[in-house]
Amino acid sequence: MNNILIGVSGGISAYKVPSLIRLLIKDDYNVKVIVTEDALKFVTKETLEIISGNRVYFKMFDNVSVTSPKHIELVGWADCLLIVPATYNTIGKLAGGIANNLLSLVASAMDNNKLILAPSMNVNMWENKILQSNLNKLKKMGVNIIEPDSGFLACKDTGKGRLPDIEIIHATIKRVLNTEKRFENIQYIVTAGGTEEDIDKVRVISNRSSGRMGIEIAKQLYFKGADVLIIHGNVSVGIPIYLKSVYVKSAEMMLEVINKNIGNNTIIIMAAAISDFKIKNAGKEKYHKKELRHIEFIENIDVIKNIKRDNILKIVGFALENGMDRKSAIEKLKRKNIDTIILNDVSSIGSEHTKIEIIKRKDNNIIEFEGTKQEIAKLILDHI
Ligand code: CTP
Repeated sequence: MNNILIGVSGGISAYKVPSLIRLLIKDDYNVKVIVTEDALKFVTKETLEIISGNRVYFKMFDNVSVTSPKHIELVGWADCLLIVPATYNTIGKLAGGIANNLLSLVASAMDNNKLILAPSMNVNMWENKILQSNLNKLKKMGVNIIEPDSGFLACKDTGKGRLPDIEIIHATIKRVLNTEKRFENIQYIVTAGGTEEDIDKVRVISNRSSGRMGIEIAKQLYFKGADVLIIHGNVSVGIPIYLKSVYVKSAEMMLEVINKNIGNNTIIIMAAAISDFKIKNAGKEKYHKKELRHIEFIENIDVIKNIKRDNILKIVGFALENGMDRKSAIEKLKRKNIDTIILNDVSSIGSEHTKIEIIKRKDNNIIEFEGTKQEIAKLILDHI
């Protein structure tokens, strides 16, 4: 269980902090809160205390212990410090090395990599060069900054400065706490969901893939600090807003977008269910029933086989088989010339829970596992 210290400074979006704390508590985090005096004009101490289940800290010299000063005790307790909202003033203090209230004092003793700022303010303040240079300075020193959203602001201006959705803040905390070195300097492309091929203007060939497996893998990669892009077809599970994502319709589009996005060291995880066939002369308008009798299926492009291999570190494929047919999965591993194949049973389509086998080309040891797709996503990342 992780300990999250939340610092609230005096901005209108402080009213959103109780909802964020609820989300964190639900996710089993321990939360303690420090407020500045101005923050208490926007959110009450009582609300924060009841929701976090802990007393709120705000005075520097309240109940000072002779053995351990309060700010050092709080820094020792916290796995990370999130300042939300981080106001123009608080950001200026941190960048200038000023520690004249409990929050800035605690921040001064915190490891910069464990410090997260969620700035929120009026658009003119956000665009002010002083603020931008302060943020750049902090960023260079390892502080994590969550970009604000654009939109309608509390001051009735429209522009950048809104606190982003709490789901994004929640995901950033997870990322800061779970980042692992082994995921650095590698770019991950994960495909998910089912592709679609036109029969005519209204009909399509598709499949029942929910996208859940690929989305889980992309989420776990994001939490581990990886640079991840999810390229997806139709999905029935929502794509988290914090993930970089591109929608593609057909197999050909999927191949084009994958090849365009390959970086220097790329690992590709192909969890998408790709239509094996398409229609030779897909109708530009709607076909009549009798015309449909004459449509001709032709084999679709094999995406994996056509990925440009120059800068690829690894390709991981999935083999969806009736009755966990291992022989067929091994045949696909060789035929598609990939490094690892994850064998799963057809019953896993759309389900939350599934059974897999991880089969590698250069290792005869096969890993068998049964569990939720979230558990499987973590296991797959440990084995590639
Ligand atoms: N795949 C692909 N292009 C296709 C079909 C599949 O890149 N046209 C990828 C899938 O994303 C998956 C792997 O190949 O990672 C295996 O997919 P699967 O459907 O099991 O294999 P197929 O080659 O389609 O074989 P079959 O349908 O005969 O089982």
